[in-house]
Amino acid sequence: MNPTAQIIVLDAGGQYCHLIARKVRDLGVYAEVRASETPAADLASARGIIISGGPSSVYDPDSPTVDPAIFELGKPVLGICYGQQLMAHLLGGNVRKGDKGEYGLATLELDDAGDPMFGGLAGTQQVWMSHRDVVDRLPEGFRAAGRTGTCALAAIAAPERNFFAVQFHLEVVHTTRGKEYLRNFAFRVCGCTRDWDPRHRVPLLEQEIRECARGRNVFFFVSGGVDSSVAFTLCTRALGAERVRGVYVDTGLMREGETDFVRRMANLSVEHAEEQFLRPLEGVTDPERKRHIIGEEFVRVQERIIDSRRLLDENWILGQGTIYPDTIESGGTAKAAVIKTHHNRVVGIQRLMEAGRIVEPLKSFYKDEVREVGRELGLSSELLDRHPFPGPGLAIRCLCTDRDEPVVVTGDGVILPVHSVGVQGDSRSYAPVLAIDALDHARATELINRIREINRVVAAVETVAPVESMRVRASSLTPARIGRLRRADAIVRGLTHASGYDHEIWQFPVILIPLGTDASPDSVVLRPVHSVDGMTAQSVPMPADLLRTICAELSRVEGIAGVFYDLTHKPPGTIEWE
Ligand code: XMP
Repeated sequence: MNPTAQIIVLDAGGQYCHLIARKVRDLGVYAEVRASETPAADLASARGIIISGGPSSVYDPDSPTVDPAIFELGKPVLGICYGQQLMAHLLGGNVRKGDKGEYGLATLELDDAGDPMFGGLAGTQQVWMSHRDVVDRLPEGFRAAGRTGTCALAAIAAPERNFFAVQFHLEVVHTTRGKEYLRNFAFRVCGCTRDWDPRHRVPLLEQEIRECARGRNVFFFVSGGVDSSVAFTLCTRALGAERVRGVYVDTGLMREGETDFVRRMANLSVEHAEEQFLRPLEGVTDPERKRHIIGEEFVRVQERIIDSRRLLDENWILGQGTIYPDTIESGGTAKAAVIKTHHNRVVGIQRLMEAGRIVEPLKSFYKDEVREVGRELGLSSELLDRHPFPGPGLAIRCLCTDRDEPVVVTGDGVILPVHSVGVQGDSRSYAPVLAIDALDHARATELINRIREINRVVAAVETVAPVESMRVRASSLTPARIGRLRRADAIVRGLTHASGYDHEIWQFPVILIPLGTDASPDSVVLRPVHSVDGMTAQSVPMPADLLRTICAELSRVEGIAGVFYDLTHKPPGTIEWE
């Protein structure tokens, strides 16, 4: 059992909501995320409540709100960004559209008021803002505690009731003293005690696994990723190796060395299904169709494994590496529902889930905490610090097209007629890519905002011929192209690991596009990104000497005509290209 959450974060739809809970847990205080409208009665056991930021305006018709009774519980409440506006709105203050937005770094002047929340933090400091609406009239009992050039009420306080709120995001690293604000709130305002260290939970997790399994065995579909590997190892420790089985499916779309890497885990068998995946993909160029075929084959191969090993009889339950953010609806979509659909579509697995024959030992942990548990279990950093890798594998990083097409030279750059996916508005849409000649993120952002028919901008870093002279050629997922991408990916992975750069970024997809010359038909796109949870991401620069080495090594790979660098943030471009 987890401890009772001392701090509850009410999710008002912000991408940073999980970050708040994670940062509180980093202080050693167990925190959980709940839907914003959770009834006040369900929050009675918490010591304090935080209302997160969110993209809405308090005056939007369906904007998230909280049960007003939470303000009558006698508990401390901290509002962040939208959370501040919502508090002001519900407690009798006023919110209006600001004269201008305030996005990015800002300078806060915090008063020296001596209350437990802001006390000791007074002075000029850097904070990070993302808002248009502002509080312009304080509710009764509140006073202004801090301001920026754009926002007169950037920090407000009603210390008698232990209500505090800030317009800035204290949970992000760009707010330099953010952690101190959270520490003050948790310990000085709410009186929390330290009760959380994921490493200490290993014996309890093992106990829970034994209780859940009740003499039965556990089987896993292991992907080679961090979550399923840690969950698998925990079950092995809890039940003994002979009671846990893992199956890893080699789809033929995996990275170089991946199957050998995964095989090193004990009690794991490899199901070779390369032919089963690659044959139906022959000649297919449409990205959504590629994904669909891979999803279908996953279902088939998993059903076959379950049947052939009689994994549905009463002696077995299913183990899964579900983690905390997968279980929580955020912004209306549970990510697990989207990403792990191929698991949930397997009829046998559905039956196991419905019957409750499932063990998910990591379902209250964040990724960083899963890594800490993994370290406690003695797993290698090579495994634990891996970047996420998508289930459909290299297939969605190997772009295909059904026709030859020339590039289009414009005054802003060269339009490449390869179609990559983006998230403009609510839906995924495919559009061409613009190539420019400089590694200039600011220019890329300006161009994407201005030119409607593109959703991505790349910089041409090194090419064997001028980009203007290159062509896109009809191409599909041939073994030669998958092999080319696999090699390029292994080179980039090896060099970024050797330089330590892989620790500085969240993910680094390497994409093959069918753009090149007669002799070398493909090019490689490098896509290093920073992200918190994959929902949004920033394209980031990399050290110039590392980039030079990568280009030099890639130029030796057969068939590669150029190296490009994706300068697009998400939104509007997704992390993956399909
Ligand atoms: P996008 O491309 O949507 O990706 O910005 C966000 C994160 O999700 C991963 N991703 C997937 N993971 N199956 C997966 O297991 C998929 O089909 C899939 N598509 C995207 C992507 O690698 C990134 O981390």
